[in-house]
Amino acid sequence: MKFFIDTANINEIKEAASMGMVDGVTTNPSLIAKEGREFTEIIKDICAIVDGPISAEVISLDTEGMVREARELVKIHKNIVIKIPMTIDGLKATRMLTDEGIKTNVTLIFSPLQALMAAKAGATYVSPFVGRLDDLAQDGLVLVEQIVTLFDNYGFTTEVIVASVRNPLHVLDSALMGADIATIPFDVLKKLAGHPMTDKGIKAFMDDWNKAQGK
Ligand code: E4P
Repeated sequence: MKFFIDTANINEIKEAASMGMVDGVTTNPSLIAKEGREFTEIIKDICAIVDGPISAEVISLDTEGMVREARELVKIHKNIVIKIPMTIDGLKATRMLTDEGIKTNVTLIFSPLQALMAAKAGATYVSPFVGRLDDLAQDGLVLVEQIVTLFDNYGFTTEVIVASVRNPLHVLDSALMGADIATIPFDVLKKLAGHPMTDKGIKAFMDDWNKAQGK
């Protein structure tokens, strides 16, 4: 499973990259706004750190505006993937951009049929939002399972990016279902690496070692 990091924070991206855990980065307008810096400057900085797909989201809601923004954004770096909201205008833009050889990530996917339509429009990636569905007492992981099945049934090459990840179980269950990618917030990424028994084991080893050294 590929791990993307879901943040626009440069320090978090650097730290996660130094762990060897970043295959790509996803951003969205809310994550960019939190950084208080200019959008394209942030994207340029991210591209300089990570050599993998970097999702940058368009702001326009109409097809023409989305396509115009996308054509500018891809000039920043060869790794830019255009994040497009799942709407009818978004589907039209996805088809146009795919035909131009521009990679797309259709975002804000909340139903399997939305994912199927995005794949038919030629999307490179789809992003189902697991945590936001869980918040509504709907099982977000069921959505991931359905999308993986649909894409397998029909041989779509569109990759599934599990998004709105809130905890390690979202990552584990998505991996068991065969989702291609999880885009993970930095705090959740750190949680994946930890276990209380690991900490307890290290402490016991150190205590025994120090005792033997007479410390
Ligand atoms: C996906 O690409 C989005 O940036 C992100 O996963 C949204 O997560 P949230 O629901 O925690 O805002």
